[in-house]
Amino acid sequence: MPQSDRPVVAELRAGRRGAPRFVTSSRPDLTWRVSPAPDGWRQASAVLERRTADGRIRAVAHRSDESAAIAWPFAPLGAYETAHVRVAVQGDDGSRSAPSAWLAVEAGPLGPEDWSGAFIASRDDRSGEKTTDPSVAHGATAEEVRADLAADDADRGITRFRRNVTVDGPITRALLSYTAHGIVDMRLDDVPVSDDLLAPGWTAYDDRLLFRTVDVTEALAVGPHTLGARVAPGWFAEHYGFDGDFRRTWHGQRALSAQLRIEYADGRIETIVSDETWQATITDAITFSSIYQGERCDARRTDDGLAVTGSLPDAAPAVAADADPARLRPADLPPVRVTETRPVSAVLTGPDGETILDFGQNLVGRLRITVSGPAGTEVVLRHAEVLENGALGTRPLRYAAATDRLTLAGTGEEEWAPRFTFHGFRYAQIDGVPADRVSAVAEVVHTDLPRTGFLTTGVAALDRLHENVVWGTRGNFVTVPTDCPQRDERLGWTGDIQVFAPTASFLFDVDAFLSSWLGDFAADQARLEGVGPLYSPMIDQDLFAPTPMAAWSDAAAVVPMVLWERFRDRRTLEAQFASMASWVDVVEREAPDGLWNTGMQLADWLDPTAPPERPFEAQTDPYLVATAYYARSAALTAEAARILDEPEAAQRYAALSERAREAFRRTYVSDDGRLSSDSQTAYALAIAFDLLPAHAVQSAGDRLAEIVEEGRHRIGTGFVGTPIVSDALTATGHRATAQRMLQTDELPSWLYPVTQGATTVWERWDSVLPDGSINPGEMTSFNHYALGAVADWMHRDIGGIAPLAPAYRRVLVRPRAGLTDSARASYDSLYGEFRVDWRAARPELGQDSPLEATIVVPANTSAVVDLPGAAPIEVGSGTHVFTP
Ligand code: BGC
Repeated sequence: MPQSDRPVVAELRAGRRGAPRFVTSSRPDLTWRVSPAPDGWRQASAVLERRTADGRIRAVAHRSDESAAIAWPFAPLGAYETAHVRVAVQGDDGSRSAPSAWLAVEAGPLGPEDWSGAFIASRDDRSGEKTTDPSVAHGATAEEVRADLAADDADRGITRFRRNVTVDGPITRALLSYTAHGIVDMRLDDVPVSDDLLAPGWTAYDDRLLFRTVDVTEALAVGPHTLGARVAPGWFAEHYGFDGDFRRTWHGQRALSAQLRIEYADGRIETIVSDETWQATITDAITFSSIYQGERCDARRTDDGLAVTGSLPDAAPAVAADADPARLRPADLPPVRVTETRPVSAVLTGPDGETILDFGQNLVGRLRITVSGPAGTEVVLRHAEVLENGALGTRPLRYAAATDRLTLAGTGEEEWAPRFTFHGFRYAQIDGVPADRVSAVAEVVHTDLPRTGFLTTGVAALDRLHENVVWGTRGNFVTVPTDCPQRDERLGWTGDIQVFAPTASFLFDVDAFLSSWLGDFAADQARLEGVGPLYSPMIDQDLFAPTPMAAWSDAAAVVPMVLWERFRDRRTLEAQFASMASWVDVVEREAPDGLWNTGMQLADWLDPTAPPERPFEAQTDPYLVATAYYARSAALTAEAARILDEPEAAQRYAALSERAREAFRRTYVSDDGRLSSDSQTAYALAIAFDLLPAHAVQSAGDRLAEIVEEGRHRIGTGFVGTPIVSDALTATGHRATAQRMLQTDELPSWLYPVTQGATTVWERWDSVLPDGSINPGEMTSFNHYALGAVADWMHRDIGGIAPLAPAYRRVLVRPRAGLTDSARASYDSLYGEFRVDWRAARPELGQDSPLEATIVVPANTSAVVDLPGAAPIEVGSGTHVFTP
C-alpha cells in the first residue's frame, strides 16, 4: 500500500464494477478509492461535484465515511445524457485530497421508454409458427429423442438483417443499441461492433430482455455504411428438457431490435431504428445453431451480404415480429467474451485411431481451427470433458451433441470458430481431415467478470483444488449462473448458486452479474406465486411443478444478502426485498408452527451415501434441512428489513425465524444436544445457522468432530452441508479436524478428484470412480461448482481474509497454519486491495504455530488481526508486519 502525505482519489466509478460503459440507471451509485493515502487514513467526508454542459459546477457535500456504492446525489440522468462528476475527500485527520479527474458518466437508452426500434424478423423464418413443438414423453428412447430434436433442424438457422445508412456530415458521437430474440452478432460494414459473444444473454425472456449499447463513433466516417446483424436461435429457441422430454420454452421467430443514434457536429440528431425497411434473409453460411447441439457452417456459402458493397441473398423486406418492448432493460452485467486462448497440450490417439486433442484443462468455450482441404469436405469437431477407455467420454453429455461441423470452401487455409454456441470440454476430436491439415486452439468463453480474489498455499493439491474452483466459476458464469456447462442442462439451478455465491464473490466481482440474475429469479418467482424457482430462467417442464424446496428456493433470501455482505449492494436488497419476503411467506404457509415438513425436498443433494440414481436420498432428514433453512432465510430477511429501515418487517421475520428455531429444537434436538439425524450436515446446519441453545453448541461441535473422525475425515455432506461443515468445526474448536478433512484424499473428499487429475470441481464426489471409469449415474458432470464452496472457508481460514462489515470495509485477518506452512491471499475490495502473506514460525505446532505475517490494508478500511499467541488488535490502512 503506497503511502503519501495527502490522500489521492485513485479511481471513481459509476455503477457496479465490470458493468458496461453506458450506465443502466438514471441514478448510478458512485464508488471511489483512495490510494495512496497516509497510513491509517479514514474518510470523514467528501465533496461530490457535477459539471453541467454550460461549465457550471454543482457541489454536494457527502457527510459520511463511506465510499462504496454511494447513492447518486445529483439530478437524474436522462437517456443519452452524459454527466461529468468528480470527488474530493477529506480524512478524519484533516487531510484533503485534490479533486479526482472528471469522470464521464454516460447513459444510452435507459429503458423501454427510450426505445423505438421494432422487433423484426424474416418472413421466411417459420420457426415462430409452432405454438407447441414435437415433444416425446418422459422416458422416451434415445432414438425417439434424437429424431424429435432433429425434426426441428430446419428451424435452427440464422437470420441476417441489413440496412444501408449514409452519414452526410461529420459526427460527434454515434451510439448503437441492440438486442434480439436469439443471440445477435451486430455488425457495421460487416465488422462486429463489439467483442461480446452470446448477447443479449439468457434472461427470463417473457419478463426481461437485455439490450447493449456500444459507441460506434469511430466507425462512422462520412459516407455510406451498412448496419447488419446475424441472429441465431440461442437460448430463445433451445429445446430444454429432462428425461427424454424436450421442449421449447419461448416461441416466435428469431428477431432483431436495434437503434442507432447519430449526433452530427451541426447539432442534428438522426435515429435509425430496426423496422420493415430493413432487408432480411434466412440464407447464411451457418445452417444450424444450437447451444446444446452445436453449430454447422458451410463455408462455401460465405458471402459479402453484410458489407457495404454487398447484398443479402434471397432477401425480402423484414417483417414485424411479435414482441413486447416493455421487457427491455439495459444490460448491467459484463459481456461474455473470449478471455483466454489455450494451445493443445497433447495430441492423443483414440482406440479407433482417431485424433484427440487434449487441452490439459477442462474449460468452457469453443475450438478455433485452421484447416485446409478440398471444397465440400466436412470437418467434424466433437467435445468431451473426459476420456473413457481412451475415447471421448460423451455419455455424460446426455442429449447435447456438442458437435460443430464445418464444410470447407476449399479456398486454402480456412480459419473457423463456431459463433453462437459453447461447449464444456477438455478433449476434442477432429474428424474429416487428415491430422496434419488442421490445427486448433481452445478459446475460453464466459462472462468476463473482474477477478478479485486469489489464494496460494504452496501445497500442490490444495492449490490445484483452488484452481479447480476458479475454473468452475469461470465455466459456469455464462450470462446466468449455471449448474454445469456441458450437458443438455446448463440451467440456472438456484441451490447451486445459493451455496456457491460467497465463494464466487471473493474470487470475482459477481455483483452486477448476480444482481441481474436475481431480476430473472424474481420474475419467475412472481409467476410461481412466491415460490422460489428451482432454476431461473425457468424452462417449460412439468417435471418439477412449482414446489417450494429448501436450499434451492432459498436462493431468494440468501443471494441478495451475500451481495450485501460482499459488495454492500443496497440497491439489490431494495429490488429483491419483495422476493425475499414473499418466499418466506410461502414457507410460513407450509410451516405454520415453524416446522417445515411438507413436500418433496432435494435437501442434502448428492450426499455421498445416496445411491447414484437417487441423489436426494441423503442421511440427513430432508425436513431437518428444510426447517433449518426456514430459520435462516427468515433471519436474513429480517436483517435485510433492518438495513432497509423497515422495522415492522424486521420484527415479523425475526419472529418467524425464532419460531422455526424453536420447532427445530423441539423436533430434532434431544436434551443431551444430539440431533435426530446424526450426520455431518445436520450438526453443521445447527451450528452454522445458529439454531441451538447456547449450552448445546459445544457438544454439537464435539459430536460433529467425532463423526468426521470416525469417518476417517472423509466427507459426509452433499450440497447443503459442504459449504458449512468446515466453519462449524472451526467455530467449535475443531479446526484441526476441519483441516484433516480438507487434507484427506480418500473417497469421498475434496482432494480425491485432484488425485484423479481433475482440473475442475466435479458434480459428484466420485464422478470418476477409483478404477478410472465414469460414474454410471446419468447425471455426472465434471464441472459443477457447488462442492467447491469449501473455498470460501479456505479464503478466510487459510488466506485470512474474512468480511466483518459489508464490502469488506472491516476485515478479520485470522489465518492459521496446519494445512500449510505459508499462504498468500489477496482481495481487491471496492475500497482497494487487502493482502495477507504469512509463514509459520514453528510449523510443527500446526494451527498453534506463531506466524510471521505481512498484512496490507487499503485506505478507509480496517482489519482485526488475530494471530496465534497474541491478543487481537485492530489496524488501519497501511502495511503491517507482524513477527512472533
Ligand atoms: C443439477 C444440479 C441441481 C439438481 C437439482 C441437477 O440436474 O445439475 O446441480 O441442483 O439437478 O435437482
